[in-house]
Amino acid sequence: MTLSPQWLDELRSRTTLSTLIGRTVKVQKAGREYKACCPFHNEKTPSFTINDEKGFYHCFGCGAHGDAIRWMTDQRGLGFMDAVKDLAAEAQMEVPAPDPRAAQRQEQRATLHDVMAAAQDWFVTQFNGIAGAQAREYLKNRGITEKTIREFGFGFAPNSRGQLKEALSSQGVDRLVEAGLLIKVDDRDPYDRFRGRLMIPIRDPRGRVIAFGGRILGDGEPKYLNSPDTPLFDKGRTLYNLDKASPASRQTGRILVVEGYMDAIALAQAGFEDVVAPLGTALTEHQIERIWKMVEAPILCFDGDNAGQKAAMRAAVRSLPLLKPSHSLNFISLPAGQDPDDLIRAEGPQAFGALIDKPQMLGDRIWDHEYAAEPLNSPESKAGLKKRLSDHVRDIADQDIAQHYRQDFQERYQQTFFPKHDSTTQRPQYQRQNARFKSDYRSLNAMPDTKSVLVSGYDLRIAKGILGGLIRHPSQISKHFEELTLLKLADSQLQDLLSELVRQAMRKETLDMQGLLTILEQTDCYNVAKGLLRADALNFTFNRKMPDPAPSETIERAYADLGEAIKVITARPGLEAALAEATRRVQDNLDEDSFAEQQRLRQAKQEFHERLVELTQIDDVV
Ligand code: UTP
Ligand code: MN
Repeated sequence: MTLSPQWLDELRSRTTLSTLIGRTVKVQKAGREYKACCPFHNEKTPSFTINDEKGFYHCFGCGAHGDAIRWMTDQRGLGFMDAVKDLAAEAQMEVPAPDPRAAQRQEQRATLHDVMAAAQDWFVTQFNGIAGAQAREYLKNRGITEKTIREFGFGFAPNSRGQLKEALSSQGVDRLVEAGLLIKVDDRDPYDRFRGRLMIPIRDPRGRVIAFGGRILGDGEPKYLNSPDTPLFDKGRTLYNLDKASPASRQTGRILVVEGYMDAIALAQAGFEDVVAPLGTALTEHQIERIWKMVEAPILCFDGDNAGQKAAMRAAVRSLPLLKPSHSLNFISLPAGQDPDDLIRAEGPQAFGALIDKPQMLGDRIWDHEYAAEPLNSPESKAGLKKRLSDHVRDIADQDIAQHYRQDFQERYQQTFFPKHDSTTQRPQYQRQNARFKSDYRSLNAMPDTKSVLVSGYDLRIAKGILGGLIRHPSQISKHFEELTLLKLADSQLQDLLSELVRQAMRKETLDMQGLLTILEQTDCYNVAKGLLRADALNFTFNRKMPDPAPSETIERAYADLGEAIKVITARPGLEAALAEATRRVQDNLDEDSFAEQQRLRQAKQEFHERLVELTQIDDVV
């Protein structure tokens, strides 16, 4: 039964949506609207909004959206007609009797099926007759067997403007036009649509012919001529070979999606019968939903060339708003310039079988595409990648799925640009940058929790360099008193030396290296100090022996670098702790803010490394 749009509008306007929804969830008035905690996803603060005036609800959290009928079907789980009947009873409206025009359309479709069946018979007869010799030859050359020809119902349309019209005249010209078999332009005489073409019948899920694709024999334009949309045929909702693929997929648990008729046919002939194809367009939402009724993760097979890869990405992006638990798309890329039919003919079915054994998952496909989309040679371009990925995640309507993709992309992004320290295999190539990040990590020095800073591990090596630098340039000790007194070096000898240096600097305003060493000679620290002067493990500017007299730039550079190094090891442990804490928060909350904070800290940490690399001019700072 079909209900008129006017009647449905009346039903909606007589239904107060907030009252209806208020029966299931608690609603609160908020200005002209109502708010509630969304019943379609878990939430604590209400982002579900009801607008009685417009008659719809919308959730700003999960994107759930609809009117009263949609509420009844989606939330209450009723079928459409039951939802309408319930609402109508409440609104004291009578559900109209079945529409006579709908019944008429039904009948009309039935007769169009007869027309198409007659046309199919006639095309097959032509194919097998004298006129069809060239078409038979063509298929033979393409390796299509007799059996496949019968099963797929290949036919032939003779090169004539009136043969079909005449042969099927008993069907009535109007219906032949309506079935798309004749073309009628203005008042002129209708004529045959398909002329001199190999005919491929397109069947509905019940196996009835609803349209045709006509291939030119040999070269020429257009290669395929297809039936127009008719009461039987809606291109965007039809999948070629669905009637055969559907039962086959129950055996294999798989559906392959290819781009062309001939791919589907060649695959079926090679034993891959669970194959469908859209009709010359990108996969539509309807087609994706239809395929998901058969299997959860169909494998989309695209040409490896540019156009094919674009089509794959288009399908991937289009699927994002539709994704639902357990449902996804998988992908394979064929060798560039080959479609499945070409591959099977060139290398046999096993070559294709090997490809579909290792399909690529949706997330990998999107990552790979975006990763390769632009060169990633600047902070801006890297952030651009992140933006594109998060835009895709935003398109995912299902919040649980979105969360997993967000996490997955974040991990890949971090792994790529901010790899873990212990990872020895995937170290980023540091590019020398001027100290453009300095200001940023300086501000981190002002971290609230800086009572004392334990320096251990690798940073001890840097601390040694710093100590050596301070011995060479004692005037700098007092410049960094604050930081130096915060440091707690995990090596007691080094810590003793540091304390001694600080003490001496406090006692005596002006110190030079020789004077300092003379004083140190009387302490336990002397040998350590001498050792540090010899040690050239770290190639800091402030550890080098200065020429005498030293140019002022050389001295200034050494002093500046020494200051930087001290700041780095003072700030880093706090940063590490903050990062660990932020990482915990991200794991617990998975929200944008925690993530942004964690990313900021990771970035700061990365910048420390890069700065250290600059300072030491060695490449193995880990
Ligand atoms: P292809 O050109 O890849 O088709 O177009 P194919 O099946 O591999 O054709 P062969 O092997 O050259 O015979 C893919 C699909 O796009 C639609 C058809 O549905 C075709 O199967 N198409 C293509 C058209 O509708 N019109 C055209 O002119 C070309
Ligand atoms: Mn082809």
